[in-house]
Amino acid sequence: MSAFPIQTVHTLAELRQRVALWRARGERVGFVPTMGALHDGHLSLVEEARRRARRVMVSVFVNPTQFAAGEDFDRYPRTLAADVERLARVDADLCYAPAAEEIYPPGFSTAVTVGGPAVADLEDHFRPTHFSGVALVVAKLLNQADCDVAVFGEKDYQQLLVIRRLARDLDLRAEIVGAPTLREADGLAMSSRNIYLSKEERAVAPALHRALTEAARLIAEGEPIGHVMAGAREEIAAKGFVIDYLEARHAETLARVAFRHDGPIRLLVAAKLGATRLIDNVAVEAPR
Ligand code: PAJ
Repeated sequence: MSAFPIQTVHTLAELRQRVALWRARGERVGFVPTMGALHDGHLSLVEEARRRARRVMVSVFVNPTQFAAGEDFDRYPRTLAADVERLARVDADLCYAPAAEEIYPPGFSTAVTVGGPAVADLEDHFRPTHFSGVALVVAKLLNQADCDVAVFGEKDYQQLLVIRRLARDLDLRAEIVGAPTLREADGLAMSSRNIYLSKEERAVAPALHRALTEAARLIAEGEPIGHVMAGAREEIAAKGFVIDYLEARHAETLARVAFRHDGPIRLLVAAKLGATRLIDNVAVEAPR
């Protein structure tokens, strides 16, 4: 715990200066990219990075290219002062909060096209431009940060696989580490978007994780996947969710799976509760 505010830099030049200093001293650099509105889930990634590196920097940047028209870019919560305070409490070393022009300067003309896990007919079906925006900003941020290790949450499971692929394909130097999803006491995955939920919706929201864990248990016990997933869909719909997808997929490739021996299996869901879109996922325990 630190009582001191951590330093925040807003430009790439300042960032490079700081990181170069650490690297010159031979210190390993860890990095946690975020869009801010930091909650304990984000902070658990900082702690994971801290276990793997002497220095930890966190970026706070609401990346316009990963939002489509009509999504929540404009109303996405922006709470930099509170974020910096939270980062100080977990002893992060540096916060990088670039302005949009620092990431996308005038004349910016480059795109990243993603395939493999980015075209799995999951998030990509409902947010067709999302992962190319994520890949673009993550490629830039990892390059800017010149880090040894970067930590991402399993909460955004498809995103984690897309970023692993990106790092491999573009020979990015950083080791990509996935960290488990932090949840509220009632099982709801922590998310910056949970603040959009009304009191009534917040009470219903944990049903999503309950249905996933129950389905994962049944599949692990040998119940037919199709049958279990149909049951889970019914249950969630009955609670008032409008389901985008609720699927059992191969945990590494996101290919469709018919039998539990086709695994390792991951169950992934996206569903709307009122105006709020929630996503979650859990692992199915491997058959013995
Ligand atoms: P954001 O939604 O702010 O999430 C930043 C990181 O925190 C991601 O790696 C995400 O998976 C992780 N995270 C979110 N909720 C979590 C939880 N409950 N437990 C553990 N980790 C959690 O994901 C993004 O930002 C952006 O797409 C980004 C990668 C920063 C690119 O713009």
